[in-house]
Amino acid sequence: MLVRTAASGICHSDLHVIEGGLPVPPPCILGHEPAGVVEAVGEGVGDFAPGDHVIGCLTAWCGVCRFCTGGRPYLCPWQFAGRPDGSKFRLTAANGDPIMQFANLSSFAEKMLCPERSLVKIRDDMPLDRASLIGCGVTTGLGAVLNTVRVPAGSSVAVVGCGGVGLAAIQGARIVGAGRIVAVDTQPWKLELARALGATECVDASAGDPVAKVQALTGGGADFAFECIGLVPTVQQVIGMTGRGGTAVLVGVVPITQLAPISPADVVLQEKRIVGSYMGSNRFRFDMPRYVDFYLDGRLKLDEMISSRIGLDEVNAAFDQMRKGAAARQVIVFD
Ligand SMILES: NC(=O)c1ccc[n+]([C@@H]2O[C@H](COP(=O)([O-])OP(=O)(O)OC[C@H]3O[C@@H](n4cnc5c(N)ncnc54)[C@H](O)[C@@H]3O)[C@@H](O)[C@H]2O)c1
Ligand SMILES: [Zn+2]
Ligand SMILES: [Zn+2]
Repeated sequence: MLVRTAASGICHSDLHVIEGGLPVPPPCILGHEPAGVVEAVGEGVGDFAPGDHVIGCLTAWCGVCRFCTGGRPYLCPWQFAGRPDGSKFRLTAANGDPIMQFANLSSFAEKMLCPERSLVKIRDDMPLDRASLIGCGVTTGLGAVLNTVRVPAGSSVAVVGCGGVGLAAIQGARIVGAGRIVAVDTQPWKLELARALGATECVDASAGDPVAKVQALTGGGADFAFECIGLVPTVQQVIGMTGRGGTAVLVGVVPITQLAPISPADVVLQEKRIVGSYMGSNRFRFDMPRYVDFYLDGRLKLDEMISSRIGLDEVNAAFDQMRKGAAARQVIVFD
């Protein structure tokens, strides 16, 4: 399917690839948080027509493997399979050399050629720049709360890292009716934004170890604590701020070569759970249209999450902003 990219959010996972924390062989066109409009459909495509508004998702699924049929299509290995043996690369340089397509999408480009099972059709009245955020960060953060651990109403929640993913997790906690929602970040302005999106308390992690502060705010530790950065020290912090019988949810991607020492006795004697959450445990053709509805009915706030709209030529400056923690979500818009 050929899709004209209308907008692409910039996710920290793109930066992980640039910095080597996620292994993807160069040359590669990054970008995996897109919304756009279908331009053309290939032979055998039945679910879409030109003009459809779509969101792209990196968890393409096959529909027949044990993960798909078992109800967890986001774990389908087909998303990593690439093109069938012997078929042409989707992207090539001017001299014909192959260019890697990232996550079957490569949304830092005016057009994307993707499999139909990377896409979901959405309502025409959804603005496409805001829809793009749902392609990765919002689905990851909301889904960690709604799908992976299904936070019950009234639970205490801590979210460490208030970027695109963490702010979505905070909103998920608000939407399900969590009790205390504690936001943790090193940037005071991010904490103010987190409060506007649903956090009931804020902890500035630049002012000393946040673990004891979160324990004090949650009566001994949170029922659910989400790591939304991808650093070893903050992984250790979320396990520490998870309370007796609580669940630590690892959402941030720690560079694959790094290991995190933890205290097994702390986990066992307090019966803590440590859970990984991949792409918000999504069934994206089900989840993304309902997240669009959440936005259009006012429950999910996306306008506030966009700190800047930029052109494609400003993408490297946008990564510098991300390294400094100076942006919430930056969105590339294409005319
Ligand atoms: N599990 C998944 O499927 C999945 C999907 C998408 C993204 N991710 C990962 O989630 C992580 C977050 O992505 P993002 O796009 O929201 O990143 P981001 O860069 O926008 O946000 C990170 C936030 O962490 C804050 N921060 C940095 N160091 C801190 C510290 N020591 N203590 C407290 N706060 C700190 C920053 O100020 C920033 O607000 C990345 O590792 C990304 O790769 C995972
Ligand atoms: Zn992402
Ligand atoms: Zn499958």
